[in-house]
Amino acid sequence: MTPTHLLFDRIDEPGLNTLQGYEKRGGYSALRKAFAIPQAAIVEEISASGLRGRGGAGFKMGQKASFLPKGEMAKYLVCNADESEPGTFKDRELMQKCPHMLIEGMIITTFATGINHAFIYIRGEYELQADILEAAIAEAEAAGFIGENILGSGHSLKLVLHRGAGAYICGEETGLLDSLEGKRGNPRLKPPFPAIEGLYAGPTLVNNVETLATVPTIINMGGAEYAKIGTEGSTGTKLVSVSGDVQRPGNYEIVLGTSSREIIFDLCGGPKPGRTVKMWFPGGSSSPVLLEEDLDVAYDFDTLAKAGSMLGSGAIIVVDDTHSALEVAQKLTKFYAHESCGKCVPCREGTNWTHKMLARIESGEATPMDLDILASVQTQIIGNCLCVLGDAMAMPVGSIVAKFRDELEAEIEAASERANTVPVAPVQDAIPVGAH
Ligand SMILES: Cc1cc2nc3c(=O)[nH]c(=O)nc-3n(C[C@H](O)[C@H](O)[C@H](O)COP(=O)(O)O)c2cc1C
Repeated sequence: MTPTHLLFDRIDEPGLNTLQGYEKRGGYSALRKAFAIPQAAIVEEISASGLRGRGGAGFKMGQKASFLPKGEMAKYLVCNADESEPGTFKDRELMQKCPHMLIEGMIITTFATGINHAFIYIRGEYELQADILEAAIAEAEAAGFIGENILGSGHSLKLVLHRGAGAYICGEETGLLDSLEGKRGNPRLKPPFPAIEGLYAGPTLVNNVETLATVPTIINMGGAEYAKIGTEGSTGTKLVSVSGDVQRPGNYEIVLGTSSREIIFDLCGGPKPGRTVKMWFPGGSSSPVLLEEDLDVAYDFDTLAKAGSMLGSGAIIVVDDTHSALEVAQKLTKFYAHESCGKCVPCREGTNWTHKMLARIESGEATPMDLDILASVQTQIIGNCLCVLGDAMAMPVGSIVAKFRDELEAEIEAASERANTVPVAPVQDAIPVGAH
């Protein structure tokens, strides 16, 4: 498989994280090019590229940017660097090794949309990456790429790095905005969407790190050229984070539309010898699981959706046949029940209740009918929550219950047999009445 490197081009080059290293390989040339073309034409280039958001929902960036009201007003750009979806670690590598690519993408985006205030909201655990970004922002300011009247263009920008405190919900764009405003990170009711009413009630464009870091490439190549890479509905390259039961886990840049089998086996070595792929999450822990028979599906937004799952954040988690379906489902629900913000009932009750139901299977208290109830609860969570955190648990758990029903029924039977044959304490060990 021939690698195509746009974002990860020479990513391991020493010094690439510095301004000097980035400029040596052409960094900030896209910004100069962008300043020479009308602002509206930049948004058009992004639209022509077909770039879809890399944070999870896959919404077209150009379209989202065009929703922002035109004219003079306080508008904001917020880069979502929360990277909290389990299995996802691509933004971390990008920010750590090439922070200026993100910064350049943000400056171009703010110029194109008439925004003068931008924020990078980075997850609290990414201390090293936050320090690197802070140093890069200072370098960009000193070089005149950030500040007043950048390179004589008339465009001014203030860029602030904000460290989060480690909550999954703060990756959800409106929870993130609340957190950025200094409140508890709870999702907001939508509409209004952030493009109309976001940070400090002003129009706000929220984009993922990888999405914004792709902008300089699009400006350098031209939107139409970029759109030639990948498939019609999923243009360009994508950073995928591959983890779980593969021999070479890590971040890889692939052309969208590549076969999933090639990614999991050719790039990542597949599971250890003698083991097989039992299930795999194509787009982070919130995507419905696919099976070994699905490995030939093309890795792109539309094909994965047709196969019953989603590309999500691009995090592929491989589970081999040494794990039980129950174990996987329990790990998922533990995470989502813990991370639910509790603001809406279907998510708060649904995630906790699902977690308890799965524990009943393990302890031998469940009956096969519980699987029907479990499946029905998942369908009732989906589409009924304030944000999609509840769906993020219900989609994969629902798919595991549907696809591994026989295994779960056998587990229920085995666990209930185990529970009924627990040895009773011998009489001589029992504490005599009145011994205390
Ligand atoms: C519970 C939850 C967690 C999310 N976490 C992240 C995250 O860590 N990073 C991210 O970019 N998007 C995350 N998203 C998606 C964002 O809400 C939003 O769609 C994204 O930042 C938009 O950027 P994009 O259009 O460039 O993809 C999350 C969504 C939900 C519902």
